[in-house]
Amino acid sequence: MPVNDKRKIAVVGVGAVGSASAYAVMMSGLVSELVLVDINRERAEGEAMDLAHGASFIKPIRIYAGDYGDCRDADIIIFSAGVNQKPGETRLDLVQRNFAILKETLPHLLPLAGDGILLVVTNPVDVLTYAALRLTNLPPNRVMGSGTVLDSSRFRYLLSACCQVEPRNIHAYVVGEHGDTEVPLWSLANIAGIPVQEFCCWRGVPCIKTDDITRRVREAAYEVIARKGATFYAIGLAVKRICESILRDENSILTVSGLVDGQYGIQDVCFSLPSIVNREGRARVLSVPLAREEEEALKHSAGVLKSILEHLDL
Ligand code: LAC
Repeated sequence: MPVNDKRKIAVVGVGAVGSASAYAVMMSGLVSELVLVDINRERAEGEAMDLAHGASFIKPIRIYAGDYGDCRDADIIIFSAGVNQKPGETRLDLVQRNFAILKETLPHLLPLAGDGILLVVTNPVDVLTYAALRLTNLPPNRVMGSGTVLDSSRFRYLLSACCQVEPRNIHAYVVGEHGDTEVPLWSLANIAGIPVQEFCCWRGVPCIKTDDITRRVREAAYEVIARKGATFYAIGLAVKRICESILRDENSILTVSGLVDGQYGIQDVCFSLPSIVNREGRARVLSVPLAREEEEALKHSAGVLKSILEHLDL
């Protein structure tokens, strides 16, 4: 990266998820500037100090605690402010509390400079991505949610153990809500073009128990929360991966959340579909071929999200 090529990420909300995202971004060498903003200024300062003290181990980067105005020239604003799930709570249970925080904060972050991208991570991420889109009036490609990027990784991780192949060689997506109605796309899951079950036969390992894997992907966050109170490392890496694809103009296919505009006959809701992510943000959304029951499950997921959106004061 040339010295003058400033690349900046702002993290708004540095609780566990925001801090883990900042840590992953810092380690990646992707940006020259990382600003941390939190309603609790001391918290942001503490996190910035803690990260900055590692400066001699990483590529040069300016890390500091700032205020909302410091976000406006960022290439990406990561919105991770809000409360997280307690054991027994669903992501959708958080909606009113986190919507209020989003609605209060967004006006302070705008106008977002040039082609800056707003990346929503706070749950329920699909509902808040939709709200952010409506409240900011930014073009749909510039507002996205972390969506099921993490769930797709969990799916690949579990498949990798069954198939005995490393996760990066597994093509498998989770679409729909980042939450209880998400849909793992079994009909498309493949390794080197070979459907996963066929691959298992060829590899001489037991067939995959699909219901079991589906359940474990959906319940993954609950399992972590029951044990350690929160999830943050893997979502931090998922956020870093999205930022990387944006800033390096990679055209990677990631299951980020964003406006669904006619795909599968679904409209006016945000959720995840495999999408091309590059400097424009969520540049193109793929309409991958789905099995009938997958399409029905996706429509159900859209219906659940829409019923929540009806109760938001947008
Ligand atoms: C999870 C949180 C980020 O799935 O929703 O871990």
